[in-house]
Amino acid sequence: MELTWENVINEVLACRRCGLCQGRQNAVPGMGNQQAKILFVGEGPGAQEDAQGLPFVGPAGQLLDKMLAAIDLDRQHCYIANVVKCRPPRNRVPLPEEAQACLPFLRAQTALLRPKIIVALGSTAAKQILGEQIRITRDRGIWHERKGCFLIATYHPSYLLRDPAQKKDAWEDFKKIRDKIAELGLPTIKTDCGSESPKQGNTL
Ligand code: URA
Repeated sequence: MELTWENVINEVLACRRCGLCQGRQNAVPGMGNQQAKILFVGEGPGAQEDAQGLPFVGPAGQLLDKMLAAIDLDRQHCYIANVVKCRPPRNRVPLPEEAQACLPFLRAQTALLRPKIIVALGSTAAKQILGEQIRITRDRGIWHERKGCFLIATYHPSYLLRDPAQKKDAWEDFKKIRDKIAELGLPTIKTDCGSESPKQGNTL
């Protein structure tokens, strides 16, 4: 099948590759600007995401939006996806076989975006993107480079809601992301401000 956003999204919406499809109200393909060069990856949908079919729209999403705003980003200046596209029961961590079954979708999204920066939010995304050996507390905030794309892991916003003392470290990571965005000259709310036609991509 041809690699297009439409095909990937339709495949996600119809997916029955693992058991998570049985409990879903909605699959959650992703959201944001399909031309963005920065990709944020979470773990998987929670209750509100499952209800709305959109990523990070619950309490963790509200915090993520604040963190994005702090580095002059919003959902029109990035793309947001998850490792698994369907809600695990009681928000448990996705099983390895569920993550494996869903990974082709994240790979396809990455191939379409060709991001310059990928931010793994939390341990599940960090292990999928950077490798099983990653320990989020030890390895967060460190840049990795792969084929011209810069990868970094930071804490998941849900973890920050449970343990706000860790926000200080997450902010250090976000400042690194802000600096990398500037270094690479990627568009932000600020750089688009004042331009006649800010870049608009499709939003799901
Ligand atoms: N947590 C995630 O990892 N992803 C979401 O979309 C929402 C909460």
